[in-house]
Amino acid sequence: MCGIICYCGKKQAIPILINGLKRLEYRGYDSAGFAVVENGAIGKNGRNNKNRRNIVVKAKGRVDHLEKKKIGLDVDATFGIAHTRWATHGKPSQVNAHPQTDCANKISVVHNGIIENYLELKEELMAKGHVFKSETDTEVIAHLVEEYFEDDLEIAVLKAVERLSGTFGIAVIHADIDHQVIIVKRGSPMVVGIGDKEYLAASDSNALTPYTKKMIYLSDDEIAVLNSDEYHIKNLRNETLEKKIEILETRDYKVDKRGFEHYMLKEIFEQPVSIENAMRGRIIESEGVSKLGGLEPVLDRLKNTRQLIIVSCGTSYYAGLLGRYIFEHLTELNIEVELASEFRYRRLKLDEDVAVLALSQSGETADTLAAIKEAKRKGALVLGIVNAVGTAITQITDAGVYNHAGPEIGVASTKIYTSQLVIQTLMALLIGRYQGVSFIEGSEIINALIRLPDQVREILKNADQIKEIAHKYSRYKNFLYIGRLFNYPTAMEGALKLKEISYIHAEGYAAGEMKHGPISLIDRNFPTVAIVPDDLTLDKMISNMQEIKARNGKILSVTNANVPQVEKISNDIIVVPRTIPILQPILNIIPLQLFAYYIAKEKGRDIDKPRNLAKSVTVE
Ligand code: AGP
Ligand code: GLU
Repeated sequence: MCGIICYCGKKQAIPILINGLKRLEYRGYDSAGFAVVENGAIGKNGRNNKNRRNIVVKAKGRVDHLEKKKIGLDVDATFGIAHTRWATHGKPSQVNAHPQTDCANKISVVHNGIIENYLELKEELMAKGHVFKSETDTEVIAHLVEEYFEDDLEIAVLKAVERLSGTFGIAVIHADIDHQVIIVKRGSPMVVGIGDKEYLAASDSNALTPYTKKMIYLSDDEIAVLNSDEYHIKNLRNETLEKKIEILETRDYKVDKRGFEHYMLKEIFEQPVSIENAMRGRIIESEGVSKLGGLEPVLDRLKNTRQLIIVSCGTSYYAGLLGRYIFEHLTELNIEVELASEFRYRRLKLDEDVAVLALSQSGETADTLAAIKEAKRKGALVLGIVNAVGTAITQITDAGVYNHAGPEIGVASTKIYTSQLVIQTLMALLIGRYQGVSFIEGSEIINALIRLPDQVREILKNADQIKEIAHKYSRYKNFLYIGRLFNYPTAMEGALKLKEISYIHAEGYAAGEMKHGPISLIDRNFPTVAIVPDDLTLDKMISNMQEIKARNGKILSVTNANVPQVEKISNDIIVVPRTIPILQPILNIIPLQLFAYYIAKEKGRDIDKPRNLAKSVTVE
């Protein structure tokens, strides 16, 4: 969701901005644009007296569209700002795309997030004669800066920001101020990249890694001022701050499809490796226990924790739902799972013996960040499992574990879901071994974990069979997904995958709940995907399938059970290898990811960037 990239240095800015926008594309967006100031005669104090041009180019749709316009791409400019927008205020259109400008078309602003008081500011500014062009909340920032600008852009931005409420990451340039880009962060991530005689900034360090690994992560209410030969960082009281430069130690994962037609398919096929990476160096086989370096500083507190509350959204939430069963199975903790967006409405007693665990691929999800802030305010220990290194959630949690799964580009999360399940198992094992879990039980779990990557490989070898089955089911307009216990969350996640990328309605349900409502939907045109593991839920699952069959419903089963009855009732069956029950969902979800993928492909959907969705959901 929305991205910002800025450059200030000696190189041509436009290619860097366009390349940065492309590296941000995976986040999902609806329009893109950039603003640069054409190099030209500069007057005293860096001010230009000769009408240097502020070039603003914007397009609805993809960054390609921006390039195809062939407008302004060859301008000689060495500083500028660029943006991919995910509309919150005003429809996706060229006019509403960022940068937004002031009345004189000298000040350009890009913005991630929401300005909550934009309407009153807009009215105030219009009363003073400002003329608005767009429907965005963002445009008020450009006019406010114009209102306060005398000859110092820093001061004008400081004054403008004082008036804003909401969450934002913004970048501002002024055509009359040579080589100056001003960045402000409140609630929405912004990182400054320190290059060699050049400075960059972005909402996601991924956009900066081709140019520098030296990063400064801004905190809320900080302003970074980038010039061509220096930068400085201040707070809103105009005091200069000394901020630590961090070296981004993430491996420079190459972001390409490696021959796969879509990122999503590539990421599904990467799961044997991402599962291995989640475990690498984190298992002590000889002691039947796990080792999570990131949790060591808080281990004593964690051992005395009474309750664990898992907070997350979407797929990460379903991973959390499964986490509940995993932690309950292996530890003595009381477990709650809450949607991050609902967390703040709960009246929970969060004290010293409560830990809150946030799960997030992007590390930027605004709802999850808000839940963490609430938990911190009340004194809970806050932990994270995050994939994107150095992101906002990793900055504000007390401790945490990285997925080390490499970038996930497909908007529909796949490899991170299975990675989150592995890491939660390692975490539960770590705590559980201080409690009731024996060495033998710990070793069984470890052995099963170690076998997982090969078992996933086995499933992936059957991708063609799953593709054929997907073809058979692609004409249906509604699906029910059912499972029990560990596979109830699998049903929810399987259904979410299908909805997200194929736009087919699908509901994930606890199989036991079916008879309490959704069974009324079942007929020959409403198929069910049943997850049927050979565990204590098997008989009950078979009964549910019988109930569907009796109502002419079609059934596709995903099962590790070699049971004739399952085969007999199912219209189609996908067999997966067998592991211990708590890990079986990791294997069961793989065919469901592929099933969703192949249906979406058959329907010609935009699989990596489904409509209306964004990879990082940075608004609440
Ligand atoms: C997953 O397929 C979705 N696109 C979405 O539900 C996602 O899982 C959710 O927005 C949470 O994101 P996060 O893990 O980056 O916090
Ligand atoms: N609220 C702004 C708009 O709708 C910014 C959206 C974004 O974060 O991309 O234009």
